[in-house]
Amino acid sequence: MIVVAGGTGTLGTRLVPRLAGQGLAIRVLTRDPARARQLAGPGVEVVRGDVRDPVQVARAVRGAGTVVSAVHGFTGPGGVCPASVDRAGNASLIGAAARAGATFVLVSVVGAAPSHPIGLFRAKHAAEETLRASGIPWAIVRATAFMETWATIMGRPLLASGKILVFGRGDNPVNFVSAADVAALIELTVTDPGLRGQVVELGGPDNLTFNQLAAILQQSTGRHGTVRHIPRPALQVMAFLTGATKPALARQARAALAMDTLDMTFDPSPARRAFPGLPNTDISSALKELLA
Ligand SMILES: NC(=O)c1ccc[n+]([C@@H]2O[C@H](COP(=O)([O-])OP(=O)(O)OC[C@H]3O[C@@H](n4cnc5c(N)ncnc54)[C@H](OP(=O)(O)O)[C@@H]3O)[C@@H](O)[C@H]2O)c1
Repeated sequence: MIVVAGGTGTLGTRLVPRLAGQGLAIRVLTRDPARARQLAGPGVEVVRGDVRDPVQVARAVRGAGTVVSAVHGFTGPGGVCPASVDRAGNASLIGAAARAGATFVLVSVVGAAPSHPIGLFRAKHAAEETLRASGIPWAIVRATAFMETWATIMGRPLLASGKILVFGRGDNPVNFVSAADVAALIELTVTDPGLRGQVVELGGPDNLTFNQLAAILQQSTGRHGTVRHIPRPALQVMAFLTGATKPALARQARAALAMDTLDMTFDPSPARRAFPGLPNTDISSALKELLA
């Protein structure tokens, strides 16, 4: 039995059908089973649970042979945050996996580090450390930014109102990978015992600036609306003013600033050489699939 926490997300909805397609029994842990409706099928069980509740986590993980954590608390409903989901929630999942005698596959981020300016990256590092110290068989898959996530964030307002938002100057290159490629790597990680104790970092073929991504979105949607930049000082003010009242907004403003200024490029070739059979989706194919 493979428990997938985060099975309802951008990555999870691409991962669960791959694992189920192999005839593996899957249990999806979600706070809202309605979100898992599209995953229903032979071999897929859905259980309600919140990774911030250790009792619910213990119940969901009982009997598991493998636990995959594809959750994050950067944004999303339910007042989540990286500290409660990525740090504490993953610690609960790892503890429950240890009690069940299960293997653990953690989805993390390229750049996870204890002093990273983005809180999510610090929380992912903490989860990686908890996992390494747990004594159970593990694997860590670190990914760069998902094409599908960012194309949706920027593309939705473009399609709805003809406007496209770019945070900051938008001229800093960022590596984007397709969540479909990451799902394929996680499937391998789950099924290949030779990958235990390994950290695999996966990126996509292109380092693109947000200005480039905006232009690609305009081209592929045929909507050539106005590109509006949120200047860096406005992001700084937003982060400062909303820190106490709207922490998720403050978090997004701080992360946008970091993505506009830090080195977010990535050389994907080591993992691509090690796993030549993985799909290597480029941005136009990912957009075609999203728009379809
Ligand atoms: N998106 C990116 O650019 C990116 C880049 C690198 C790595 N990653 C990593 O890839 C993984 C998947 O990300 P994603 O973008 O696919 O996620 P997503 O689409 O934003 O979905 C978030 C998932 O986390 C689950 N979740 C959040 N809080 C939860 C809680 N308290 N209890 C139980 N489940 C909770 C949600 O489940 P329910 O709402 O159904 O409960 C949902 O399935 C994450 O580990 C993320 O850090 C993402």
